[in-house]
Amino acid sequence: MAAKYLSIQEAMDKGSGKVSVRGWVHRERGSNKLKFVSLRDSTNVIQCVLKREDFEKQWEDIDHLQVETSLLINGEIKKDERAPTGYEIRVIEFKVVGKSENYPITKDHSPEFLADNRHLWLRSRRMISILKIRSTVFGAIHEYFRNEGFYEYHSPIFQSVQCEGGSTLFEVPYFGKRKEVFLGQTWQLYAEPAIFALEKIYTISPSFRAEKSKTSRHLTEYWHAEMEVAWADFKEIMDYGEGLIKFVVQKVLEKNKEELKLLERDLKKLEPIVKKPFIRMTYDEALKILKDKCKMPVTWGKDLRTIEEEKLTKLYDVPLIVSHYPKVVKAFYMTEDPKNPDVVQGCDFLAPEGYGEIIGGSHREPELEEIKKRLKEQGEDPKEYEFYLDTRRYGSVPHGGFGLGVERIITWICGLDNIKDSIPFPRTMERYRP
Ligand code: 4AD
Ligand code: MG
Repeated sequence: MAAKYLSIQEAMDKGSGKVSVRGWVHRERGSNKLKFVSLRDSTNVIQCVLKREDFEKQWEDIDHLQVETSLLINGEIKKDERAPTGYEIRVIEFKVVGKSENYPITKDHSPEFLADNRHLWLRSRRMISILKIRSTVFGAIHEYFRNEGFYEYHSPIFQSVQCEGGSTLFEVPYFGKRKEVFLGQTWQLYAEPAIFALEKIYTISPSFRAEKSKTSRHLTEYWHAEMEVAWADFKEIMDYGEGLIKFVVQKVLEKNKEELKLLERDLKKLEPIVKKPFIRMTYDEALKILKDKCKMPVTWGKDLRTIEEEKLTKLYDVPLIVSHYPKVVKAFYMTEDPKNPDVVQGCDFLAPEGYGEIIGGSHREPELEEIKKRLKEQGEDPKEYEFYLDTRRYGSVPHGGFGLGVERIITWICGLDNIKDSIPFPRTMERYRP
């Protein structure tokens, strides 16, 4: 078959005349005179019709064409209102490239079955749409930070210290030499030393958390977009977070309308994100609103629970930035608020519609002795952190940063029920296969 292959989308854009396309059988049905094959590639799906009168000799093969067979097709394309995607190709010539028999995924399978067959489920139109949006999100994060003058910088994944609490650390047997090597929970302690070199840095990298909770928003391996900036005050850190989220949502709205439609995502839920300023409030203000408007009193000093975050965010159509949490519920590295030493300059960005925390960030505590004290309180040996403590010894400057859970933002943008669908091969407490 001599041909320059067009993608299915390109063939539909051409709209008439001879075309060559290639892809996989998405669906098939037929009679003993006609066979309809809907052919899928990464760009779209198109109905192809094969008539017995044109293929008398090959009819048996055609009759047996099964779902996910890969095919080359030459034919004549035309508009057809009855075809599911508005066009049809009358096939003149075809060639089977790879057979497919008894494809395991048919209809209405349990989530468990689809998870076992994740490698095949990736081909579903639903997963294709999510993966395209995922690609846009990653591209947009890079673009945003680079436009803002950030350098891309990389921290190690094997780390010798914890940063976000010992309870979610994965320990790694590292040649049996050291007792404590962990998979990174965050780049942060290895990023702060680099602001003295590059000032504005970002990364997108896997992070690991041994989360024992089986929730719809926790993975054990997730992609973490993080940034760190020298000379920045706390407000600047929050401004970057808001700018980033606006930029990412705007790019998805520009590039992925079709995919959002296939996922039945209501665009009206996303449009305000680009247009309206986010809501900013302190932890104290959040407690007051929870009490007055949601009838959910929270004792001062307790972290907000999922249910409280959910109630709170459902009051607004844009993300909520809650800041100045009690020191006791936040990490050791956050700056004490100069006006009130019981709270810290740390913030959580909570997505609308109850999707929960998407960003965690803070200004960084400048005082060496204060950091040592808080590490000890957590049962850590400050000696292990000497390399990090040097950031406070040699030309320290005010600085801060945040981490965005990339799957969290994809889950929210796509309107998914569970974070597991936002990543090709989700890893959770119970699932590490295939
Ligand atoms: O709030 P976290 O723990 O903050 C940090 O790790 C900071 N060191 C970041 C920084 O300042 N550089 O995590 C940041 C974000 C959360 O807001 C959440 O979106 C995401 O990471 N996240 C997870 N996403 C999926 N699965 C999990 N188990 C996650 N844990 C955190
Ligand atoms: Mg957090």
